[in-house]
Amino acid sequence: MADHPFSGSSHLAGHCPMSGLAVAPNGCPVSPKAADFDPFESAYQLDPPEALRWSRDQEPVFYSPKLGYWVVSRYADVKEIFRNNQIFSPAIALEKITPVSQKAQDTLKRYDYAMNRTLVNEDEPAHMERRRALMESFTLDELKHHEPMLQSLTQEYLDRIIDNGEADLVDEMLWEIPLTVALNFLGIPEEDMDTLRKYSIAHTVNTWGRPSTEEQVAVAEAVGNFWQYAGKVLEKMRQDPSGHGWMKYAIRKQKELPEVVTDSYLHSMMMAGIVAAHETTAHASANMFRLLLENREVWEDICDNPTLIPNAVEECLRYSGSVAAWRRIATTDTRIGDTEIPEGSKLLIISASANHDDRHFENPDDLDIYRDNTTDHLTFGYGAHQCMGKNLARMEMRIFLEAFTRRLPQLELVPNQTFTFVPNTSFRGPEHLWVRWDQGQNPERRDPGILERIRTFTIGAPAPHDSARPVRVAMWQSRPKVWSA
Ligand code: HEM
Repeated sequence: MADHPFSGSSHLAGHCPMSGLAVAPNGCPVSPKAADFDPFESAYQLDPPEALRWSRDQEPVFYSPKLGYWVVSRYADVKEIFRNNQIFSPAIALEKITPVSQKAQDTLKRYDYAMNRTLVNEDEPAHMERRRALMESFTLDELKHHEPMLQSLTQEYLDRIIDNGEADLVDEMLWEIPLTVALNFLGIPEEDMDTLRKYSIAHTVNTWGRPSTEEQVAVAEAVGNFWQYAGKVLEKMRQDPSGHGWMKYAIRKQKELPEVVTDSYLHSMMMAGIVAAHETTAHASANMFRLLLENREVWEDICDNPTLIPNAVEECLRYSGSVAAWRRIATTDTRIGDTEIPEGSKLLIISASANHDDRHFENPDDLDIYRDNTTDHLTFGYGAHQCMGKNLARMEMRIFLEAFTRRLPQLELVPNQTFTFVPNTSFRGPEHLWVRWDQGQNPERRDPGILERIRTFTIGAPAPHDSARPVRVAMWQSRPKVWSA
């Protein structure tokens, strides 16, 4: 990068003395739109891809002075940054995006809070060694163990609401089932669910949100408690690490590979793992139901043909994923497209925007469950760090969708509800999702056999042939018919 006039320049943004405009750390002026960008404001919170449309079209890499990050919005750039984890290190993935007040720092210190490297924020070669050592729990055979529990939990939660005619799906189901699954997957006892629920939101706000100075202390208290709780559970598990559960497996592996699976890793992962496995999937499921019910014809297609479920889940992950943005830091002076990026630059890579980039996805703003490149979405990241739990998340979402389309095909959104989101850059899903249905129309009242006719799916990404698009063929002297190609 030596040929660039700004390489090696100060990384601090400033103001141009000639124009008064803000200047990015590479010395280029910041455009007015880039200067205005604020991911904590409603435009981004409500619809991240729409809020970044101008950027995809005009300025795909820009410096946000309000955030102190470079923002990247196009598919090819976001994918390349995910792929190249040497130049774009994930070390800041769990760093607090909003600088913390001294008081909040002191609070965290009181709890000996020491969140450190896990997997998602670990550099090579340590990352890959650890990832390989801990992969076992994510193999297809291991994931199969979770399926019966997930099926029965889903039926049980649905039984509780099926005759009510109205429900907040988040409060009454989509928050708790992924939490139970996450705790089971990690091998954690279920007794502290309610406390954990509060804690994990605090972790999200602490890491990816912008709490006010007063809120910071309350958040730090919850995070400190969460940290200590994680430590206690870990100690309990150490006494008997036998049986299923990813954390138990990791404790066993530590005996074999103590320098790969460290104490610090175990404690940090105990906390980060709950959020990684829980909130992501809960939000993704809520986004999926909202999206499908807003697109009635798609919902009805799935009710008529449940083989479409794996593809529908994938398209919802593309269209409205629960992880909207992720972070990387440049380890050297580099370039993204035409933009020079100095070493040490922090990057907010907006996968939600990449997933709506028409340079990669045709008509990206159409919800198209027959799309043949849906699985190219970047909601699970890409490359060496790509989400390890993606097939567990897919399994959960498919089971939810299968159960609802079979038992409540008449489900609809309660009209005119306002969707709210916990303000943060990365984790995205409505806090509440009100749905209603006419209980008199429940199919199982006419045909109880429907309860047994559960459809299951092969674990993993949907295969391309699953997405065969129906072809409308105009028959001679007859009305158009729908055929499956
Ligand atoms: C819809 C649900 C989920 C979404 C959208 C999601 C998204 C992500 C993303 C964006 C990353 C970072 C990828 C990268 O840096 O390239 C990640 C990493 C990870 N996720 Fe997920 N995740 C989900 C569910 C889960 C579940 C259920 C688990 C655990 C059971 C899990 C465990 C992990 C782990 C361990 C990593 C770190 C992998 C590594 O750095 O090697 N995730 N996830």
